[in-house]
Amino acid sequence: MKNYHQGELFEAVEQSYLENNGQLTQQQLYANVASQLNIDPSEHIGSAGKQKNVNLFYRKVRWVQQSMKQKKLLTQLERGIWTLSGTAKERLHQINEAKSVIAMSTNLGIVICSTSQAVFDNDIIQEDIDLVLTSPPYLLQKQRHYGGDYTVREWVDFVVEVISKILPRLATGAAICLNIGQDSFVQGQPARHTHIERLTIALEDDLKLSLVDRIVWQSNKAPGPYAWCSLNRQMLHTGYEFVLLFTNNPLALKANNQRVLLPHSKEYQNFVRNGGTKKPAINSDGAHRKSVGDYSKADLSKGKIATNNLYFSNKCTHNEKVNKYAREVLGCPTHGAKFPYKLVEFLVKYLCPEGGLVLDNMSGTGPVGEVCQANNRRFICIEPILEYIKQSFIRYTSLTDEVWINPAFR
Ligand SMILES: C[S@@+](CC[C@H](N)C(=O)[O-])C[C@H]1O[C@@H](n2cnc3c(N)ncnc32)[C@H](O)[C@@H]1O
Repeated sequence: MKNYHQGELFEAVEQSYLENNGQLTQQQLYANVASQLNIDPSEHIGSAGKQKNVNLFYRKVRWVQQSMKQKKLLTQLERGIWTLSGTAKERLHQINEAKSVIAMSTNLGIVICSTSQAVFDNDIIQEDIDLVLTSPPYLLQKQRHYGGDYTVREWVDFVVEVISKILPRLATGAAICLNIGQDSFVQGQPARHTHIERLTIALEDDLKLSLVDRIVWQSNKAPGPYAWCSLNRQMLHTGYEFVLLFTNNPLALKANNQRVLLPHSKEYQNFVRNGGTKKPAINSDGAHRKSVGDYSKADLSKGKIATNNLYFSNKCTHNEKVNKYAREVLGCPTHGAKFPYKLVEFLVKYLCPEGGLVLDNMSGTGPVGEVCQANNRRFICIEPILEYIKQSFIRYTSLTDEVWINPAFR
């Protein structure tokens, strides 16, 4: 079976459209691309997730096709497309609001340089999305390089607007997973904003989404808030952030906790091996009854269901590699709020079946794309800042040869 590179596929699809003035049926496109690459499509039958006997070549052509020029994505960057943002020292280039440019693609996904709103206003995404996993700019008093100087109401309106534009593209039972920091304070006071509660209610009331869970993500983040803990001593250190989990259809939710089972503790393993419950008991006013021998037949080989109280360290070798690349090779600012790889890996596996499509519409340096590439999920990452996109490429080049980088982003 002859194989081909992702970059060749892009060129062949583009060439077919150019030669035929964009007038091609789907079958003609497949045939044209196959002949340019000297490929026999019938040799490329395989599985995609749970689907068997899928023509993987046709699937890849469709994937490339949807990300190409005829879907309003440019491959050339024009003059005047960037606005400078960030501090005077750390200048960042942000793409102009209405533009969308494909920056990179692999055999499983694409990275688009754009705002989320522009991509969905222009109907660029044509496939159903199974999981939205993202982290919107935090509500901060001091502006980060990439934004975040909103009032509570503006911030809620912004996030609701962004999500509302994605809704028509979601598969039934899709999960929408939002990591939101809670360190946002009323100016000059040890009092937290209620932005998380307000956002939850707005997503439920205005967008008719259902809240599946408020997952707690604990980490070893630096102690704070400094002013209210270390100086005036009124508050406790913040030990967790929320990952809010919503869906458009709770009964059809594509989540499966069996994809993220955790090892059993030594104590539990010993308890099961030693015959389980020793004494009968009735707890919680009869709600929980235990008989002698309960749990003795539990299957220890599979692992236990995770709780919604997760711990993942902020220290992440994947992100350290991206930082090093940004500083030493690209000479550009690093991103200050990256998702650790292991948290993303847990959420992607839990919430999206293999072969499914994951969107991170505020993707920063792209850990969601990296996890998807490593775990056979398709992905779309959207980020408006050039420097963050460029540093994200290093995540993919070590995972696959099939990386196409838009020459304008090299
Ligand atoms: C909290 S950061 C996400 C970081 C990312 N999860 C990572 O691990 O690198 C939020 C990102 O949203 C981007 N952003 C801000 N406004 C946006 C918009 N309208 N559309 C898409 N992305 C946006 C920012 O540039 C920033 O990189």
